[in-house]
Amino acid sequence: MIHKLTCTGFLLGGVCAATLGITTANADEMPPERSLAGLEYDLIGRDDLYSYRSLDNYSQAPFLDALVASGALPPVSERLPANPLVFNASAMSDGIGEYGGVFRHVIGGRPEGFHWIAGQHQGWGGINMAVQECLVRQGPRWQVRAEDQTGPLPNLAHSWEWSEDMTELTMHLVEGVKWSDGDPFDTDDIAFWWNDNVEDENVTSRIQAGSFGGGASLEVIDDYSFKFVFPSAQSETVVEGLAYIQGCPGPSHVLRDSHPTYNSDASYDDYLNAMPSSDVPVPVLGAWVPVEHRPDELVILRRNPYYWKVDDAGNQLPYLNEMHFKLTTWDDRTTQAVAGTGDWSNMENPGNYVEALKQSQDENAPVTAKFGPRTLAFRIELNFAQNMADSDYDAELRGLFREQDFREALSSAIDRDALGQALARGPFAYPYMGGFASGSPYYDAASTDYTPFNQGYANELLAGLGLEDTDGNGILNVPGTGEDLVIDMTFKSQRNDDRKQVEAVTSQLAEIGIRVLPTPVDETSFDPIRNSGSFSAILQRVSFVLPTRETCGNLPTSEICPAFHLAGSEGRDFLPFEAELADSVLKFNASSDAAEQADITKRMQALLTENHYNIGLVQVPAALLVNKRVRNAHPGTPVFMYEWAEDAVIRERLWVPAELQTEELLPGTVAQY
Ligand code: GLA
Repeated sequence: MIHKLTCTGFLLGGVCAATLGITTANADEMPPERSLAGLEYDLIGRDDLYSYRSLDNYSQAPFLDALVASGALPPVSERLPANPLVFNASAMSDGIGEYGGVFRHVIGGRPEGFHWIAGQHQGWGGINMAVQECLVRQGPRWQVRAEDQTGPLPNLAHSWEWSEDMTELTMHLVEGVKWSDGDPFDTDDIAFWWNDNVEDENVTSRIQAGSFGGGASLEVIDDYSFKFVFPSAQSETVVEGLAYIQGCPGPSHVLRDSHPTYNSDASYDDYLNAMPSSDVPVPVLGAWVPVEHRPDELVILRRNPYYWKVDDAGNQLPYLNEMHFKLTTWDDRTTQAVAGTGDWSNMENPGNYVEALKQSQDENAPVTAKFGPRTLAFRIELNFAQNMADSDYDAELRGLFREQDFREALSSAIDRDALGQALARGPFAYPYMGGFASGSPYYDAASTDYTPFNQGYANELLAGLGLEDTDGNGILNVPGTGEDLVIDMTFKSQRNDDRKQVEAVTSQLAEIGIRVLPTPVDETSFDPIRNSGSFSAILQRVSFVLPTRETCGNLPTSEICPAFHLAGSEGRDFLPFEAELADSVLKFNASSDAAEQADITKRMQALLTENHYNIGLVQVPAALLVNKRVRNAHPGTPVFMYEWAEDAVIRERLWVPAELQTEELLPGTVAQY
């Protein structure tokens, strides 16, 4: 049941009449949106970017010659697969590159660990994506023309085919890819990733047991082929779930011995710590290998001599020898990019937009900056797992969170214009109601239920739930326990914009008698807290753009998805609309018809926003800042579309002319195991 308020000119003090109990979907329309996107680019065909083939000759970064001569490395042709992935120079904005130099990233995260198949992150900001390679790839799809958008691009899997009834997906790995320590990559790694991580419920992998394609099982065919068998017909769309951060195998030759299934002395805690952030190098399939980690200071990565991609002149990639991740803050990423001491920022901190834009417009500025569509959205996640509450108070609170009227009251009490201006003065922020961000290809304004700011209506809804300030201290009391209504709101302490939103939300909700207790946590502790469901409410930034990306974070697709509604030991206590949401994910994945998919996502958007599944706050665009000395950073690369820009820009092809290269910290070296 959707409770709505019909208002006539309420902003001007007009009359509002509550029409409680009447279902009127989308009675309020989203206000007009002003786009700031200024990206211009030429689209290309799906096969214009790269193919897999053998070339007559291969060459390598010159410093590797000495390592080959000394016998420390096999010759480049033996390190490469028979048919490496070959990037076409014709699709590169600046063409074939020069070897050498450093790419300087700055990030606010810290590596949790290198055990990505057990769900650990490496600090975000492009470091995860520098080490992980995945079965398929989504990032570069932003550049593919619409008629060629048939699904994800190949990567470790060079091809795949479906059985006629669409219940079996057979995938073929590039033969002869090696881990950065020289160990072969093959279906041993795939079987270990799937059977002992995804399917093992003791491991918090990024795909959860039973969730991929409605409960797929894996069958290995030979060293380089395997198939997924699905319980019902799927479509090509489901393959998107095998891109970063979900379908990225890890080094089974290193990890197997720490897994309880293979080592009776090992515990799952030991397993999670099998590749700790302090212990580098680790074997990777990515273009760069972490070789030094100075906590809170720097992670240095050096080129992977076994990297399995080349350009069409036969040069082994990457072009850049070294990659740095300075460990400071997310704001500093933008500051350093603008100052020219960092090479890259996904400028996503609205507080810096005006100043950074001003500075980057100077013709001598070291960076270029271009805004994309609004794909960064802030939201509050309320914990719905009432049957997992630790105390009577939490149980009461979660009970309230499960009330449609309570969520609508919270949403009505949020003044999104004020929130937006608190983030950045100017036209950057636009109201967000939850669901797909407005920059998503699946966003539909007409299916989005808009909740206008209306404290009076919020108060009415709260009173209707029996919430009263019984002790006259200005804070409502929870009916069952009589205690003050206090909501702990967990957020990432390193994210200034998140903090600003928490502060503004705290004062706005205080006006309707709800006390918010801001609970800052560092980014390394954040995921474990969220995954364990031990929080009342979370405020965070999300990029909800595709139904197939980070699905578990957004939608009720398995017992532990999303983290704000874990099933618990007593099983699922779905909110009335959650079953339909879960079902729509399956339908979306099973459809190959774009019009049908659009209808499914419109319905999802309506369910998500009418029911206030999350309390949306505001959404903003982001601009990509890239140092001008960097070549092949394709103009038009969005900060976020199918994936973050660090993937979309294809960093293995980036290069810097020799005379502009900055000094390497570890010249002449590669990872030693
Ligand atoms: C963080 C940053 C994003 C992006 C991603 C990449 O979330 O805030 O801008 O760099 O990491 O994973």
